[in-house]
Amino acid sequence: MPLRKIITYPDTVLRERAEPVTNIDGKVQQLIDDMADTMYHAPGIGLASNQVGEPCRVIIFDISPKNEPHDLVVLINPEIVEADGAVVSEEGCLSVLDYSAEIKRTACVTVKGLDREGNTITLRKEGLPAIVLQHEIDHLNGTLFIDHISKLKRELYKRRLKKILKKKESSVQRL
Ligand code: NI
Repeated sequence: MPLRKIITYPDTVLRERAEPVTNIDGKVQQLIDDMADTMYHAPGIGLASNQVGEPCRVIIFDISPKNEPHDLVVLINPEIVEADGAVVSEEGCLSVLDYSAEIKRTACVTVKGLDREGNTITLRKEGLPAIVLQHEIDHLNGTLFIDHISKLKRELYKRRLKKILKKKESSVQRL
């Protein structure tokens, strides 16, 4: 299974709203497999399709502890149908280099969607999986976790990122 390149901020691809999947065909199955390999390889605990440049509504996550068997959850066309409470926790993102921040989210969510066989599933989650679900569904809507921090913090991060990217560029050997 090929690993996909994870697109990083500030690439505008991450800002596009992903379109619903209308047909769960072989291409979608391949995308899910590639996303899983890419997420485990990164490593990360969640990934949305548009992070690998496929603007269709597919998210995956796996919050099983390290050294335990994988417990991959796949959701196609996920939708939050119920949300209660509030919680603040530290978040990072495979598409946002070298940054994490405290983000306020809904504590408990009910999400409806399809599994990879096309069956309707409903997940009611709190704690980490609830946060991951909101983070990944945000991705499908073109929203990043840094959109939830203050403008000042975001500007500071943007400035720092520019320096990081410049440094990376200058360390590349040109052959
Ligand atoms: Ni993310």
